Amino acid sequence: MPDANILGIESSCDETGAAVVRAGEEILSNVVASQIATHAPYGGVVPELASREHLRAVLPVVRGALAEAGQSYASIDAIAVTQGPGLAGALLVGISFAKALSFALDKPLIAVNHLEGHVHAVLLEQRASDNRDLRFPVLALVVSGGHTHLYLAERKDNLWTYAESGHTRDDAAGEAFDKVAKLLALGYPGGPIIDRLAPHGDPHGVKFQIAQIKHRDRNEVAREKKLKLSHKHDADSTPAARSDNSRPRFDFSYSGIKTAVLRYVETEHLEPSIEQRREALKDIAKPTLDDYLCLCDHQTLDLVASFQRAIVTDLVSKTLAAAREYDVQTLFVSGGVAANQELRTTFQREAEMEGIPVFFPSRPLSTDNAAMIAAAAYPKFLRQEFAASDFSAEASLPLR
Ligand code: KG4
Ligand code: ZN
Repeated sequence: MPDANILGIESSCDETGAAVVRAGEEILSNVVASQIATHAPYGGVVPELASREHLRAVLPVVRGALAEAGQSYASIDAIAVTQGPGLAGALLVGISFAKALSFALDKPLIAVNHLEGHVHAVLLEQRASDNRDLRFPVLALVVSGGHTHLYLAERKDNLWTYAESGHTRDDAAGEAFDKVAKLLALGYPGGPIIDRLAPHGDPHGVKFQIAQIKHRDRNEVAREKKLKLSHKHDADSTPAARSDNSRPRFDFSYSGIKTAVLRYVETEHLEPSIEQRREALKDIAKPTLDDYLCLCDHQTLDLVASFQRAIVTDLVSKTLAAAREYDVQTLFVSGGVAANQELRTTFQREAEMEGIPVFFPSRPLSTDNAAMIAAAAYPKFLRQEFAASDFSAEASLPLR
């Protein structure tokens, strides 16, 4: 069934999403209910509140997606749902709902890795714009509030396989944006506001150094050993299982820069101006860029611009170093932080100098959504790779 309509459901973090995608490339609908307002007072996602909000939103969001697509429960061909990684309680809401639909409608159910969804957000839009001859291997940087991962992606017919060549050892890049914004009383989520403020500051105003990791991740070594044992006699093992341990890794670390921002705030005595901003923003329901600019002095704008520049430079330089090492033909950059303007322009400029094409999703498809889940499910649908009825949420599901 080449033009199958797949209903995708996403609930891994703080967005409840449902979408109908035809043949993995045509978005018929893509509905997202954001929980930003619920979590904003806490400056981060509160897992219990996230689960409760998903419960509230999942039925109207799914109904909305079907109606917008001109589809019905009867007309869709399969249901795809995010299995992980993510918040266990949040994932379970989407999974339980999808299982119930699949059972009641007698339609196949497909379990999708959220990170594979972010990769397919790029593919979906490239196919939709008729760019069908992407060259492999692809190196995908998935960079969001929960993840900073580099994956080498290969495709053989409809089988996609991934080998991880780098990940963050501590905070994800988006998490660093959110924590620094919280520290500076700039609101939640931090990425979009820092993105808009940074062009107004001097990116060389404050010197930041991002940790460069030299040693291998001990947890990773243990995981690889386990994986190798379980794949010892498996002829169909993935590139991850076969990956060569002697090749360099390109790991990230962003908790240090968060501490460096805190130290800067302390040594430069920025606390009173931060408190002033916090108080002023309480009285503004939806602050505009001008409101923020009025509430930020030059030093704060320089701090924000320098922080963003440091993160962007690190993400781009490590990704390009990995691209050279693995001789990749194409770059994908996806996940919430891929919406960042400076990240996009820097990647475009630097990748062009290396002669490697780089692709991003449009901004609505960069952040969490269900269209990417339905798109990632399509090759699995063609392979009839359906989920067993007893599959469950996996908070730390690896991508292979
Ligand atoms: O992919 P996403 O919606 O959810 C996760 O899977 O985490 O990403 C959300 C993250 C947040 O940390 C948010 O601050 C960050 O993406 N983000 C941005 C921008 N827009 C969202 N970071 C930097 N610049 C942006 N424009
Ligand atoms: Zn995500």
